[in-house]
Amino acid sequence: MNAIDTIRQRAPNLQPRIAVVLGSGWGGLTDHLSDAIQIPYSELAGFPQAGVAGHGGSLWLGHLGAQPVAVLSGRQHGYESGAIDGMEVPFRVLQALGCHTLVQTNAAGSLRPDMPPRSLMLLSDHLNLPQRSPLVGVDGSERFVNMVDAYDSALRAHAQHVAKAQGATLFEGVYAWAFGPQFETPAEIRMLRLLGADAVGMSTVPETILARYLGLRVLALSFITNLGAGMSAEDLSHAHTLQQAQLGSAAASQLLADMISSLRTK
Ligand code: HPA
Repeated sequence: MNAIDTIRQRAPNLQPRIAVVLGSGWGGLTDHLSDAIQIPYSELAGFPQAGVAGHGGSLWLGHLGAQPVAVLSGRQHGYESGAIDGMEVPFRVLQALGCHTLVQTNAAGSLRPDMPPRSLMLLSDHLNLPQRSPLVGVDGSERFVNMVDAYDSALRAHAQHVAKAQGATLFEGVYAWAFGPQFETPAEIRMLRLLGADAVGMSTVPETILARYLGLRVLALSFITNLGAGMSAEDLSHAHTLQQAQLGSAAASQLLADMISSLRTK
């Protein structure tokens, strides 16, 4: 059975308008779902089999407040196999079910001393450092995607409005995509700062390109787990990323739930 039919069978009455991708530190969002239905990716044809510890690999369907949503818990990273188009089928399926907006989340390292661990940063733009695209091999003129305002300015304004109403600080800046899986060298971190990046991470950019290609509006948020390599005495490791992500997770997920539930959708 194809994934659309599987989802329609399991959640016949839900028409999601917003798709959410959960990265490290954001898993708590699923606690806010009501009428939640969880479908492992393994039961969805064409969905990635997520392999990284801390990434769940399930599609959740339910409501945040009155908002019907589809939550992708777990994404495929380029560093797992080299493929960077792993989220194409999930995005196409959720779009076919009615989603027109994609909210992405990730964990990232900060390049700004004034944006410490446990900060939240809204992506205003990105740097595609590997210069790779999930659209290589695609035909047609639509592949020449306009990446100006890729992170929708109206959605960003909404996110800032919700954060402000809660007295939460929401940084805004440029996210640099590093292919990974190794962390950066201190020299690379100095280079990224010179290039105008505010945060660095190993995901999100290919998915934003795919989503813009498909015509989805995109909002993206980083949970800052550490300062970039060489900027602090901290040893970087995946365990450290997950541990930091855990610490701030509840507040980040609450803010995200509020942003999504109060988003006006057609
Ligand atoms: N670099 C790359 N990816 C990351 C980092 C980092 O410092 N922290 C969390 N994800």
